[in-house]
Amino acid sequence: MRKRVMTIMSVLLASLSSSFGATSNDFKINHMANESNSVVLEATNKYLLLPIQENAPEAKVGIIKNNVHTGVYSNVRLARERVDYYVPYDISEYRGEYITVDIQGMPQNSICWSNIKYSDTFDTTNTEKFRPSYHHTPAYGWMNDPNGMFYKDGVYHLYFQYNPYGSMWGNMHWGHSTSTDLVNWKNEGVAIAPDAIGTIFSGSCVVDHNNTSGFGEGAVVAFYTSAKPTPWGDCQTQSMAYSLDNGKTFIKYENNPILTSSEKDFRDPKVFWYAPKEHWVMMLAVGQHMEIYSSKNLKDWTKESEFGEGHGCHGGVWECPDLVELPVEGTKEKKWVLICNINPGGPFGGSATQYFVGDFDGSTFTNNYPEETKWMDYGKDHYATVTWNNAPDGRCIAIGWMSNWQYANNVPTLQYRSANTIARDLSLFKQDGRIFLKSEPCKEMLEARKDGRQIKTVNVAKAETISLSPQSDNGAYEVELSINPGKSKEVSFTLSNGKGEKVLMTYDTVKKTLAMDRSKSGEVSFSKDFPAVTEMPVNKSKELKLRLFVDKSSVEAFVNNGEFVMTNCVFPSAPYDTITFESDGKNRYKVKNINIYRIK
Ligand code: FRU
Repeated sequence: MRKRVMTIMSVLLASLSSSFGATSNDFKINHMANESNSVVLEATNKYLLLPIQENAPEAKVGIIKNNVHTGVYSNVRLARERVDYYVPYDISEYRGEYITVDIQGMPQNSICWSNIKYSDTFDTTNTEKFRPSYHHTPAYGWMNDPNGMFYKDGVYHLYFQYNPYGSMWGNMHWGHSTSTDLVNWKNEGVAIAPDAIGTIFSGSCVVDHNNTSGFGEGAVVAFYTSAKPTPWGDCQTQSMAYSLDNGKTFIKYENNPILTSSEKDFRDPKVFWYAPKEHWVMMLAVGQHMEIYSSKNLKDWTKESEFGEGHGCHGGVWECPDLVELPVEGTKEKKWVLICNINPGGPFGGSATQYFVGDFDGSTFTNNYPEETKWMDYGKDHYATVTWNNAPDGRCIAIGWMSNWQYANNVPTLQYRSANTIARDLSLFKQDGRIFLKSEPCKEMLEARKDGRQIKTVNVAKAETISLSPQSDNGAYEVELSINPGKSKEVSFTLSNGKGEKVLMTYDTVKKTLAMDRSKSGEVSFSKDFPAVTEMPVNKSKELKLRLFVDKSSVEAFVNNGEFVMTNCVFPSAPYDTITFESDGKNRYKVKNINIYRIK
């Protein structure tokens, strides 16, 4: 009976589609008043491919079945004048049924109407010359913060703020990728999608080894902020979901949200186990301070304390907190580090990550250096950095989003937008009796080195140029070197390509700083905030030990294996394939042990 009705409807639709002006082969499209439209279709395929125009305003897209809205409306930049790319809109759950795709806010004369397509596949073959090879990126669509990272059974899980319907921020989901070596990533699709409580903002996961939550032994429990857009502004609450298949799929907790507040900025839960008190701790970013909660069962939370007022930088809102205990190198001491991402207010404008070193008793964090602001990375593109839960061998591994809210939506890629930093092993070191955070390239980066070549010593009188080819040929490589500046006040070195695009680095041996200038690095005109010089302090000793990671559209500089770090995006039209060392004109200096490796 049902089949017959459908056949009749198909015939009807086929005849209608020829009599209505704006129809695409398989759909009947109604254009109504006030830019309201409906696409009536039989879901014969897995996807509707929606044509996107990057700079178009957002239309609202949702599904109506039997006169009822099913699920959540998405904001999609449907093509008005030109098609930049397609995104897949999954309709597989309605296969064989008739549905209406309700599209609001789209003019009738837009070209999207003749370009919507059915498909069972979506081609994610890379089309971007700037897509890095050893940094994590989404296969397509927008990505911001890393979320919910955990390690279990030999696999590193990385979730991320994800828009599957376009390469600009919006429709926040948790995308999911996995890796066994932190270098090669496998795309696992969407893990958590928006619901009636809100879109899915940043958060964390824990492995509940002892089943404290009752969801099951070894359940993976995710905490995220539900951000509900209302005509009066966003409302943020904390929600949870659990996974019984190692993070592949999540079941949302029936009593969400688990924490509410009347504060506007109330988000990014980071949860971890505090063994001495046998309870869970949740860190939350609230306006410009952090709040600390505790729980025995992951569901009921009690506020313990607040941290932040009068501490560190307050140039913007505090986001994405973390709190980890780390050993101090060369001592038996351990200290707690509170990671605090801040936007804007970073040292070079926009987003950045500050941290505090101190003590934690399961309830309260005490900052040991209340007079100081400490930065985890001195580049412009290191944000929302948080660590892996349950990392193996006592490691504390962090990863950041390699962009900056000043221009993240405008960087020159289309198929996908934004990458993560390389993963970093965190520890602490002492300098002049004060404790600092060290972010070392994760040890897996050593195994990713291929095809190495060494140049023992270069004596620089005026200028010396070294070819980085063939290791640099596909734009993904590491250069390791040691500079002994002798009596030079200033030593500079430049990564460059044949097109005159370059990244200039200057070691000021008097000020003890290393600066990176990307103002002529390639494509820079997409934002006035992109061309920039960033500067970091370096170690006391004269010799500068540097590891430079270059990957198509980024440069990460690690001084003394992570004592000071600088991460910057660059968009050169061809890989930088030479490095040129220059002196201050008066003094000679030595560059030693230059190792050049292709990566991956
Ligand atoms: C940080 C942030 C978070 C929020 C998420 C939304 O970049 O603003 O505070 O949860 O992005 O995508």
